[in-house]
Amino acid sequence: MAQTRASNRKVLVLAGDGIGPEIMRQALRVIEFFDRRHLTSFEITEGPVGGAALDESGVPLSDETLAQAAASDAVLFGAVGGAKWDTLPFELRPERGILRLRKELDLFANLRPAVVFDALADASCLKREIVAGLDLMIVRELTGGIYFGEPRGVETLPDGSRRGINTEVYTEAEIERVVRAAFDLARKRSRRVCEVDKANVMESGGLWREVAQRVRDADYPDVELSFMYADNCAMQLVRNPKQFDVIVTSNLFGDLLSDCAAMLTGSLGMLPSASLGAPDAGGRRKALYEPVHGSAPDIAGKDIANPLACILSFSMMLRYSFDMAEEADLVEDAVRRALASGVRTSDIVQPNTARVSTRVMGDTVLRELEKAA
Ligand code: IPM
Ligand code: MG
Repeated sequence: MAQTRASNRKVLVLAGDGIGPEIMRQALRVIEFFDRRHLTSFEITEGPVGGAALDESGVPLSDETLAQAAASDAVLFGAVGGAKWDTLPFELRPERGILRLRKELDLFANLRPAVVFDALADASCLKREIVAGLDLMIVRELTGGIYFGEPRGVETLPDGSRRGINTEVYTEAEIERVVRAAFDLARKRSRRVCEVDKANVMESGGLWREVAQRVRDADYPDVELSFMYADNCAMQLVRNPKQFDVIVTSNLFGDLLSDCAAMLTGSLGMLPSASLGAPDAGGRRKALYEPVHGSAPDIAGKDIANPLACILSFSMMLRYSFDMAEEADLVEDAVRRALASGVRTSDIVQPNTARVSTRVMGDTVLRELEKAA
């Protein structure tokens, strides 16, 4: 474990809206733990994003915050959005804050692991035998496709009726870099990649297949590549999810399939994610870490949200931005033992477990960390 105190790890914390600040508070306690125990230290800066930023400065992500993000080694992001801002024009919606961060930092590879912790195998709405031991990774393309494609908008036709337009568009280069990220990850896992698309109806899907096959044959002959249509994949994820190791797919399909995969693990409140850019000359990549769940305005401020996805997002940061696998394992083991000790936030509560608050879940993880370190 790293014993020296290096303070060159600059982390920008953007808690955002809804339950964002509550779950982030618990993640920050985990970060402070590493500082306090002199395991490693982080230079933390906090900033506004989403509705919180809108209220403050009139935009969901200011240029200043964006510049801070670009200058950081990693961003830890909470969640954005809420009813209060739902009627705003598209460009001002809190969601634009996260979309702009992803796009401007060019965070094209979104890693969304779906791991079932043993203690939660019965919390899933699927049968235990379908999900127990599940460990799959969805690699979602995050800066292209229909989320950003042009033309887009709503236009008025000569007869006065309107037409809404969004465009699915991918260049070979965009596909290639994200499938490479998937193949690289697969090499550290079970060496199986399933590329998911709608090549039966979409030309861009056919291009995904061609590029994935070419890259695999040229540079990853040791990785097994298969293909699946996205609708079938949605079905297979609930029918037999353990058939998958790494799934790589477009922005929109990845959005849908990762919510689906999340439910296998018991709760959306358990899922972390990493969004990575291309490595620079020194091997460093821009990165943002965020829980997959949103701002959950209905439960905001009640101290009942599950902070584990945010805490696990920090552990992904340790692993992918700072090459601190041991420390990441320490955090993940603490989460595992906290769950095994029988405490549960309401989203994952089961018979014979104790329903606890956001803060008490944080306390329990901290206690387990203290014991293990
Ligand atoms: C996600 C979310 C976002 C997305 C929203 C908040 C813009 O659903 O990260 O999955 O659609 O990408
Ligand atoms: Mg989503």
